[in-house]
Amino acid sequence: MDIGSPQERGQWGSKLGFIMAAAGSAVGLGNLWKFPFLAGQNGGGAFVLVYFLILFVVGFTLMMAEITVGRYTQLNAIGAYRKIKASWAWVGSLGVIAGFLILSFYSVIGGWIIAYIVKAASGAFNTADTKMLGDMFTTFIQSAGAPLFYHGIFMLLTLGIVIGGIQNGIEKYSKILMPALLIMIVLVMIRSITLDGAMEGVKFFLNPDFSKITGGVILSALGQVFFSLSLGMGCMITYGSYLSKDTNIPECAFYIPLIDTGVALLAGLAILPAVFAFNFPPDAGPGLLFITLPAVFSKMPMGSLMGVLFFTLALFAAITSSISLLEVCVSYVVDEWNWTRKKATLIIAGLIFAAGVPCSLSQGPWSHIKLIKGKGILDSVDFVASNILLPLGGILLCVFIGWVWGLRRIQRISKTDEGKTIITWELEYTDALKEVTNDGKINFALAPIWVFLIKWLAPVAIGIVFIQGIF
Ligand code: TRP
Repeated sequence: MDIGSPQERGQWGSKLGFIMAAAGSAVGLGNLWKFPFLAGQNGGGAFVLVYFLILFVVGFTLMMAEITVGRYTQLNAIGAYRKIKASWAWVGSLGVIAGFLILSFYSVIGGWIIAYIVKAASGAFNTADTKMLGDMFTTFIQSAGAPLFYHGIFMLLTLGIVIGGIQNGIEKYSKILMPALLIMIVLVMIRSITLDGAMEGVKFFLNPDFSKITGGVILSALGQVFFSLSLGMGCMITYGSYLSKDTNIPECAFYIPLIDTGVALLAGLAILPAVFAFNFPPDAGPGLLFITLPAVFSKMPMGSLMGVLFFTLALFAAITSSISLLEVCVSYVVDEWNWTRKKATLIIAGLIFAAGVPCSLSQGPWSHIKLIKGKGILDSVDFVASNILLPLGGILLCVFIGWVWGLRRIQRISKTDEGKTIITWELEYTDALKEVTNDGKINFALAPIWVFLIKWLAPVAIGIVFIQGIF
């Protein structure tokens, strides 16, 4: 395979196709599974508030940054850094490692989703008894064989699409399934908030209790912004590299986080009110989606069918994300080592499957193994990847764009007729800014703000949260 030329590498068919595929990468288990349970564990509204603050300061800024680097270089994460400044290529490698780690446990949870499609279809959701549903969930994830089997199926599905390449695979599926998922979540949310006692949950989710905000809560929110938006590991660099030169980057970088956060909020509103209605502890953790939603379906007309539909769409959301994780690793090997796409996909997917095995077993047979801060294997891998590697990748990206690639504000000193000195600041249109503003078509009024965010506010904010959250 030729490297570098856009035709050979494939390109998105249209701007909408790109937004849908990128939103497809962003919207996934992070929104449906992780966001509600993290909110439940971290004080509800307090977490949501902090999430929003970080989203505005860091999320939009970095989304634009990654897409820009990708489109400018038309390369995978590592190649992109190398092309701009060779000594920075290792930052890209950090991203490929993060992607590998994330997909290893992501695929395990994806497997749980497949198992729940089967359970829904076989009528297992005919009870609103959360104790019973909880036991069903625990029994399932604690067993050794079944979760591994479904983990394997999930990896096979992911691999099957990535082998097909960009346009035939990723884009085609995203455009249809994303809107379908949205409709389904809205339906489930309506049922959930109309349950008796659900309002307590809505309050919990939307009313911030400031006393609940701690360093740990802020770090989780930071990690979740990165995870949910697929940032900090070169995923959006890779997707941006298939983007044609005339696309408006700021516009894309605005819509993707918007869609992503919308879905996360809807998922929270679908799950947390039901948690309260059924008197279930909100801080129950990773099982929340799998225990509460079946109880909601049992209270809906055609509950089993709704359950099958919901978990099927959740599976598609998960797969449009997992393909982006795999694509980062694959495109690296294809671009840098000249492997064929097929060979790269098969081998890497196999390795990731293997890495997921201990994650899966850590829910049952290996649950006694604790790695970091008393967390089991799966949670530890998640912690290292989401809360350490992704924020680190984010800071490095800011420094890279702001200070290495160069985004300059230059001072101009002029004199008025009366001899008064006026100092004005102007942006110098370096390559980075030209790329964002479509090659100098200077239509981007927010450019100075972006420059400030990426040089100062975002890296400093990530740095502070990171350091005080870890220690
Ligand atoms: N954002 C996806 C989700 O919310 C997961 C994901 C896909 C991801 N690509 C990523 C996370 C890259 C971090 C980095 O489910």
